[in-house]
Amino acid sequence: MGDSFYPLLGNGGYDVLHYDIDLDVEPSTNTIDAVTTLTAVATEDLEEFNLDFLGLEVNAVSVDGVEAEFSRDGQEMTIQPVDPLSAEAQFTVAVSYSGMPQPFDEVGVPFFPMGWHSMNEVLFTVSQPSGAMTWYPSNNHPTDKATFTFRITVPDGVEAAATGLLIDESSVDGQTTTTWQMDDPMATYLAAVYIGDFERHEQQMANGLLIRDYVPRNSDPSVLENLAAAPEAIGFFEEILGPYPFDVYGTIVMPFALHFALENQTLSIHGLYAIDPYVIAHEVAHQWIGNSATVDDWSQIWTHEGFAHYLGLLFVADFYGQDIESIMAREYRDLTLAGTSPPGDIEVHELFDPDTVYRRGALALHSLRNHVGDDIFFHTLRTHYDQSAGGNTNTDLFLEIVDDLAGTSAVSLVESWLYDPEMPGIVSGPTL
Ligand code: ARG
Ligand code: ZN
Repeated sequence: MGDSFYPLLGNGGYDVLHYDIDLDVEPSTNTIDAVTTLTAVATEDLEEFNLDFLGLEVNAVSVDGVEAEFSRDGQEMTIQPVDPLSAEAQFTVAVSYSGMPQPFDEVGVPFFPMGWHSMNEVLFTVSQPSGAMTWYPSNNHPTDKATFTFRITVPDGVEAAATGLLIDESSVDGQTTTTWQMDDPMATYLAAVYIGDFERHEQQMANGLLIRDYVPRNSDPSVLENLAAAPEAIGFFEEILGPYPFDVYGTIVMPFALHFALENQTLSIHGLYAIDPYVIAHEVAHQWIGNSATVDDWSQIWTHEGFAHYLGLLFVADFYGQDIESIMAREYRDLTLAGTSPPGDIEVHELFDPDTVYRRGALALHSLRNHVGDDIFFHTLRTHYDQSAGGNTNTDLFLEIVDDLAGTSAVSLVESWLYDPEMPGIVSGPTL
């Protein structure tokens, strides 16, 4: 796919339509026995093709039901079907594999290993940007989205959850299997599985959207109370960006601290102490910006994090009755003290840099807003979202929309925030 930060992620020659991920999990040993079946379309004649898959033992691979040769080299798995595939042919690849999944260190995410984790009797996945390949074989790049089915088998009494809608639950011989369906396109990094001693809580929003949350069993009641910010944030962002893009939402709270939260599609993961209204709203905002409208290259990450940071702060301003001008003035001051580099031109180690990517990205949007006024600003945000919903975006696509709706002086202003080595002056608006 030629990603500028992760050139090995993703593979050409085919387009995945659907992943069927069948995981038989033994939590006591943190081992899995799995079959992942991809349905894909060849985009050219293929004698062989690659999947991204790292670690675990591959037991067999078949293409359209016929056993195929494969070889592995690091994260690249090369598969040679007995009969070459012709362009436009739809085909299935089934990979069966087993073992103990291992997380790995990722240069863009120095604060937490990537992939499948076992911590304090919880199994969970953290796959942004590249960790999916530690637990299922895929075309691991956000430009190849697909629908997903997850089938997770665990011992009775253990709770399993995944991204998507729970559509089936059955128990045989002391093992419970839950099936989860994601019918909207999802990038591989947003798929997630969680297994542990959780309680499920369900409610419905007034507009019918199902909210299902997971908290550690016997949590303090305040944990669940905190999660009430999520449906509020959904309502708030629907006003700005339009209808919530998926069939369900929820928060899963780990029984331990994590130094981040992550917006896995329809079921965000939060550490025990990261469930305040800001963090909850930030992950909710990502469901539109990041999950539905997704970068086409990891270097474009400010279009997720700058936007989600600003949207999260807008929610917080509303939630606490604070003034966004003073919140952004505080952000500007903190950022000036911290020193900063431009978010439009980062290096991979800055992927989640809170100053460069989150704060300066959000200040770019806030300055645009004060330059053009609320009507044009929110119309621009909404138009950009609408044009990339269900697919991909990047900085240039955003700037084209800024140009169309707000004109060239607005483009120059945003570009100075995105690309100038020095930080521009904040464009302030009226303080209420
Ligand atoms: N996208 C996350 C956020 O909402 C940051 C997650 C970083 N951690 C990770 N393992 N990718 O800000
Ligand atoms: Zn974020």
